[in-house]
Amino acid sequence: MNLIDHIITQKAKQEFARSMKFDDETEPHIPPGDVQQPRLLYLHIPFCEKLCPYCSFNRVVFQESVCRDYFKALRKELQLYKTLGYDFSGIYAGGGTPTVLIDELEETLALACRCFNIGEISVETNPNHLTDKNLDILKRAGVKRLSVGIQSFDDGLLKDMERYEKYGSGRDIAGRLKEILGVFNTLNADMIFNFPSQTDEILDQDLEMLLATGVDQITYYPLMVSDSTRQLVSRKLGQVEYGKEKRFYHRICERLIPQYGFSSAWCFSKQTGTAIDEYIVQYDEYAGLGSGSIGFLNGSCYANTFHIPEYIAQLNRGELPLQASRTFGIRDQMRYDFMMHLFGMKLDVAAMRRKYNGVFYRHLWPDVLAFCLAGGLRYEAPYFHLTKRGRYDWIILMREFFTAVNNFRDYCRARIAP
Ligand SMILES: C[S@@+](CC[C@H](N)C(=O)[O-])C[C@H]1O[C@@H](n2cnc3c(N)ncnc32)[C@H](O)[C@@H]1O
Ligand code: SF4
Repeated sequence: MNLIDHIITQKAKQEFARSMKFDDETEPHIPPGDVQQPRLLYLHIPFCEKLCPYCSFNRVVFQESVCRDYFKALRKELQLYKTLGYDFSGIYAGGGTPTVLIDELEETLALACRCFNIGEISVETNPNHLTDKNLDILKRAGVKRLSVGIQSFDDGLLKDMERYEKYGSGRDIAGRLKEILGVFNTLNADMIFNFPSQTDEILDQDLEMLLATGVDQITYYPLMVSDSTRQLVSRKLGQVEYGKEKRFYHRICERLIPQYGFSSAWCFSKQTGTAIDEYIVQYDEYAGLGSGSIGFLNGSCYANTFHIPEYIAQLNRGELPLQASRTFGIRDQMRYDFMMHLFGMKLDVAAMRRKYNGVFYRHLWPDVLAFCLAGGLRYEAPYFHLTKRGRYDWIILMREFFTAVNNFRDYCRARIAP
């Protein structure tokens, strides 16, 4: 890692560790539901049939009866947001594995569509759930974007990450993706690069197989390790280091562009413009529903309880299951927008000024200056754009941002009563 990459990593670590500290003193709350913005409804379904060792998202082993109670509680939470006056234009069902009980997901999406003015629905799933029956149900429910977790097509890597037995061989998964192409507006493949044992040859083969599937969209995450997963990842997959991350990232861009365009620094879409991207890029605001979900509404960030029985019990009492919240000052809000908009490849300075009462450089000049001097940003009125160097800067920033969020999740889980 060169000096500039190292400095960006260290500064980002410090900055995100600071901003992900939540106040234990104040009563957690969400703002009133009258904000006039297109907002997204994020629904978290934390159950997985098998847990992957590298994953530090909020997930637990699937148990049917708990999961059914959980979905019922989730629907109660939806109705509470409706009562509070919220409306949403899109849904993102993420996990865990949202399709783990397809009938419950179907009922929940139907209720959300009755409660809110939903225009688009995106759902995450795993390869073993790509059955004709599930796809029919999702299609009927109005799902426009289906995101399938692949990670790699390499059978050796799939075995190391304990996905081969459960989800099948790389060849079988690629075959199924080809078969279902066209069922949804956007078929997205979630991939990961920079596994310790991933070689240049394995990466190239993954890229060849991806291109051959013809999927509409590819989200290529850098491997992220939180404090709690580092040991397990080292044991199962090897020591994580960042020496080859930049080379791998540029190789991915080289192979996927121009067939795909950048939707974000790590998301590549065939039909840029119509494709649904990661919700944190497309929407400035999102409500987080479900246990351990994180939301961002009107400058306030909040998290729901990570304790599933407590989550269900609180909703059965008609209470919002909030665990923590924090209201950001203007400077932090602007820096969050700066990071997220540029992650989506460009930042509209005039729109930022409109949103923040004419202010832009007063709060953001140190960030703008640092990235311009490092060659990461280029200005072409009225936008700042990421340069090639800037795209990798943003991979570092987002890797550190998600790692800080995952460390925050670890902290919340550690505080759960036994
Ligand atoms: C949290 S999972 C949920 C959906 C589904 N269960 C799956 O496995 O795809 C969504 C995606 O996050 C990505 N992901 C999970 N853990 C990661 C990690 N430690 N580093 C980078 N990406 C990760 C994977 O690409 C995964 O497909
Ligand atoms: S990667 Fe997906 S399937 Fe694996 S544990 Fe995480 S959420 Fe579950």
